[in-house]
Amino acid sequence: MTDFNTAQLPQINTDVLIIGSGIAGLTAALEASREGRVLIVSKDKLSENNTMHAQGGIAVVLAHDDSFDSHINDTLDAGQGLCEPTVVEEVVKEGPKRIKTLIGLGTCFDREDGQLAFTVEGGHSYPRIIHGKGDSTGMVVEEALLNFIKTCSNISTLEHYFAVDLLTTDGHCCGAIVWHRHKGKMVIWAKETLLATGGCGHVYRETTNSDVATGDGVAMAYRAGATLRDLEFVQFHPTTLYIAGAARSLATEALRGEGALLINKEGKRFMPDYHPMAELAPRDVVSRSIVREMQSTEYTHVYLDARHIPKKRLKMRFPKIWSICASFHIDISKETIPVRPSAHYMIGGVKVDKKGRTDVACLYACGETASTGLHGANRLGSNSLLECLVYGHRVGMTIADALRRNRNETKTYPLKVMVKARRQRGLNLGDIRYALKSLMWRDVGLERNEQHLKEASEEIGHWSEYIMDKEFHSPYGWELQNMLFLSRLITDSALERKETRGVHYRSDFPDRNDKDWKRHITVRRVTS
Ligand code: FAD
Ligand code: SIN
Repeated sequence: MTDFNTAQLPQINTDVLIIGSGIAGLTAALEASREGRVLIVSKDKLSENNTMHAQGGIAVVLAHDDSFDSHINDTLDAGQGLCEPTVVEEVVKEGPKRIKTLIGLGTCFDREDGQLAFTVEGGHSYPRIIHGKGDSTGMVVEEALLNFIKTCSNISTLEHYFAVDLLTTDGHCCGAIVWHRHKGKMVIWAKETLLATGGCGHVYRETTNSDVATGDGVAMAYRAGATLRDLEFVQFHPTTLYIAGAARSLATEALRGEGALLINKEGKRFMPDYHPMAELAPRDVVSRSIVREMQSTEYTHVYLDARHIPKKRLKMRFPKIWSICASFHIDISKETIPVRPSAHYMIGGVKVDKKGRTDVACLYACGETASTGLHGANRLGSNSLLECLVYGHRVGMTIADALRRNRNETKTYPLKVMVKARRQRGLNLGDIRYALKSLMWRDVGLERNEQHLKEASEEIGHWSEYIMDKEFHSPYGWELQNMLFLSRLITDSALERKETRGVHYRSDFPDRNDKDWKRHITVRRVTS
């Protein structure tokens, strides 16, 4: 919450404002810039985002004996009745084209004997995951895109600019208020605005996500009047490295794709007891099975065992995990890797149509922030980068079309917002942030029930009462407001869905209930 008067702030005009510099925002920028000036802002450095940390790869049908039908069916199966089938078909079929474009821009995916190398991940019935520098796929893609963007005269970038809120007038979006630590607040006027702000892993105590993932875009979209969808579906990755003092980095699912096994504290392999696909069962199944084993062995984690994979292959295929573990004196060719689940991916988000449009005019969303209908109730591994590429490209084309129809100057408006906010005094924001993350982890995590969800909702409501009416002057406070806000919406959506489906597990309603719940939960701000 913040006061502003656009007449008194520095102003920038652009045709297109893109908030977010991950794979989704950068891909969209390439297309949109064919018809106008594009400005990309990111709250950290341009290369700090979930894309940069992506490990396993991108799912795409490029092997001769793979088929679109197989990838489509795997995606639909994982989504448990809530995928939009036409979206699934279009994304899967457009995948190969988008990968060829990425390769054309200089992305080097790993090859064996000159051909693209494929691996397999949970829920995929065929090895169709391409990867870069072993387990550094995101870095390879992000760097190629950023290098290419630098050569585009129509695209400029501002890093370390925090988008505080969207500007709307007469029912359409006309840009955003941003903040920089030395320059303060600034207005960016744009004909078209795209949210590519990524996920919200940091509303949970345990997460694989980059620090930027605090759900800002979803909160901003809601305040601007856009519809949000499927917020109860938060995906937990089964195998996050669990070493006291270490950041929660991922131990990619591709390790299991290459043969690594899950064993419990007693050294017993357990996944065959839970699912016929064992270690390669869908993520929700593997995550919950790990939790069961942690409970039955009364231990904080389980282990990934890759000791039977030849050392040379391990080092070559997983250089990132190899070196992270080595820095904690774990030689993964000789020792097991301590892992447990953590929050990984926001399946729901800002509802968009097939062109990436939200229901607020001139406001678009793509990437993890958007809900396109591809993932349903559970995302198949490596389908996110694919979706970012396909929808980034689409939304970029939609915006280019809109610019072709509007060659006028970007409009500016005299907007003044005076909030009756109180300055925050004596609040320990770090403490509230940590309490929220712990609460979400404990009560709105892998296993949910009515009592815990109700308690969490009330607690968040209570904190919100004294946080939401405060005026903040830095991202730490604005992020906390966004996190509280989104946490409440996730919790209330989880409370409403009285069944178990995909990543949403209700111990008090353990069965899937198609009769009442084969439908989406949407939320939208009620405006007076
Ligand atoms: P991001 O790449 O997260 O970018 C978000 C951008 O928004 C950042 O630039 C950030 O600065 C900006 N931003 C956010 N809020 C603001 C604000 N208020 N103001 C200004 N800027 C803002 N998916 C796969 O398909 N395959 C994988 O192998 C894979 N591995 C993964 C491994 C890890 C560890 C993680 C965390 C995720 C992984 N995923 C994977 C998921 C995938 O990486 C992400 O879903 C995807 O990269 C999201 O891209 P994005 O462009 O939507 O967002
Ligand atoms: C992983 O490498 O395990 C993550 C893949 C994904 O989230 O799609």
